[in-house]
Amino acid sequence: MRGVLLAGGTGSRLWPITKAISKQLMPVFDKPMIYYPMSTLVMAGISEIMIITRPEEQHQFRQLLGDGSQWGLRLEYGVQPRPEGIAQAFVIAEEFLAGGPVALILGDNIFHGGGLGRMLQMQNKVEGGVIFAYPVANPEEFGVVEFDANGTAISLAEKPAQPKSRYAVPGLYFYDAEVVRIATTLQPSARGELEITAVSEEYLRRGRLQVRVLDRGTAWLDTGTFNSMVAAAEYVRVIEERQGLKIGCLEEAAWRAGLIGDDDLRRLAEPLCKSGYGDYLLRLLDWTEPSYPEPVMWHLQ
Ligand code: TTP
Repeated sequence: MRGVLLAGGTGSRLWPITKAISKQLMPVFDKPMIYYPMSTLVMAGISEIMIITRPEEQHQFRQLLGDGSQWGLRLEYGVQPRPEGIAQAFVIAEEFLAGGPVALILGDNIFHGGGLGRMLQMQNKVEGGVIFAYPVANPEEFGVVEFDANGTAISLAEKPAQPKSRYAVPGLYFYDAEVVRIATTLQPSARGELEITAVSEEYLRRGRLQVRVLDRGTAWLDTGTFNSMVAAAEYVRVIEERQGLKIGCLEEAAWRAGLIGDDDLRRLAEPLCKSGYGDYLLRLLDWTEPSYPEPVMWHLQ
């Protein structure tokens, strides 16, 4: 399975901050925003990723991420000239996907929680589509899933004025190879976008969509407004300080996934020691398994 990370968009809810820089390159506490969704893909077992950006911003992403080989990844870059919708990602990535399944993640979404990596890895052989549902206080700002009494998803709606549930759809979607054809036949919505909700609706119509409710022990944050960006940074700071473990640390995710070895991690750490980030990577090498046991996955579904 290959990954697509969508890091274009206008970022107008963060203007003037994002007038001259991509939202996904902004910091969320101690690392660029894009590290978080990239780490999520790596934790899901994905090592081939296409990063889709605005044309004028691609060189900055390349400067930050390169070809990904330093982390054992293969990165390709795609361009979205105008923000014409999340589902356009599948059209742009068609060749990269080479007829295989895809995990699409939005560049401003942060996921954190025990058992998340393992749960995501289980979606690797998706048939149809798998999306998630997460209870939020403000469902009207997202795609919303309606469930029947048995917990089966029966409808989806994009930013509904009157949401039929409080379950929003987070920005992480797994689809089989059919998705490219579905995205290609979509018509732009009233707001001029190829809607990701319309893709999932098509899978739902075909009876091929699974909606998995994310455990309340999982944090899902997006970072599209001033307040949500500060809140995400504060969340990361508090957890990292408390646990001494980083969230969204790409180097760590690649190392734990076995994409790079101890020597690679040491090499990556060296230039990062002044900020303390590199010291963290070096500490990982000293934590031997007996003193760093696997947590009990009491809420793994
Ligand atoms: P949004 O937050 O919906 O849009 P935006 O980033 O353009 O911001 P704003 O609403 O403030 O103008 O996008 C969610 C994510 O998807 C974000 O990471 C950007 C990305 N995106 C694209 O890359 N291309 C698109 O066409 C759209 C709609 C979003």
